[in-house]
Amino acid sequence: MIQFRNVTLEYPSTHTLALDNLNVEIGDGEFVYLVGHSGAGKSSFMNLILKRALPTKGEVMLAGQPLSYYRGRRTHLLRRRMGMVFQENLLLDHLNAYDNVAFALRVVGVPQREWPQRVTVALRTVGLEHKKYALPMQLSLGEQQRVAIARAIVTDPPLLLADEPTGNLDPDNSREVLKVLQNVHLRGTTVIVATHARDLVETFRHRTLTLRRGKLVRDEHLGGYAL
Ligand SMILES: Nc1ncnc2c1ncn2[C@@H]1O[C@H](COP(=O)(O)OP(=O)(O)OP(=O)(O)O)[C@@H](O)[C@H]1O
Ligand SMILES: [Mg+2]
Repeated sequence: MIQFRNVTLEYPSTHTLALDNLNVEIGDGEFVYLVGHSGAGKSSFMNLILKRALPTKGEVMLAGQPLSYYRGRRTHLLRRRMGMVFQENLLLDHLNAYDNVAFALRVVGVPQREWPQRVTVALRTVGLEHKKYALPMQLSLGEQQRVAIARAIVTDPPLLLADEPTGNLDPDNSREVLKVLQNVHLRGTTVIVATHARDLVETFRHRTLTLRRGKLVRDEHLGGYAL
């Protein structure tokens, strides 16, 4: 469970009010879109959940604890419970799909004997088991993004955050990526997707939070896009 209680985030360097008195709850296992114009506060929202930023006012609660609870080793454990996918997938160019995904297991210290099985399952989830030996440059952008999703989920995090995961993709690849995110959701993962892709939000309907200049102006459980 993620709870934002009267959360305001002001960036001190520019005095920008990125989030303005936000109150919202996201339950375990939900699929939620975060929409809004550029600068509305979507990435800031993600950054708070990742504890890359702290609220100026109010409280962000993760699993019943305020962000301040997650310090030191607990921050590390918290991040291990989150998978992240960004607009730029940032795969390692010199590693094939398998090794890119396995890299995430190495980082969190999963024993090497578990890698083949876990990487294979993750690549299967994104429909790319047959491309495991391909280098990023030998994959389409959509396939690369799906490898990035596999890398984000191979550690079985209960929460997946995707910030503009289809930002660089054509409509067909975007739909494929969305379908993959939905499959991840069906496995029980909580999924939060920040996006500009109005057509996707209207096609694959889920709860939709709309931000406007840092304020939550709409929380639509049936989904749909309105700015
Ligand atoms: N590190 C930062 N320092 C100062 N101001 C920032 C910083 N990051 C974002 N902002 C400002 O905070 C506001 C919200 O930015 P944010 O990145 O959350 O928007 P966004 O909805 O993700 O936009 P986009 O759709 O363009 O990604 C903007 O006005 C932005 O200029
Ligand atoms: Mg953003």
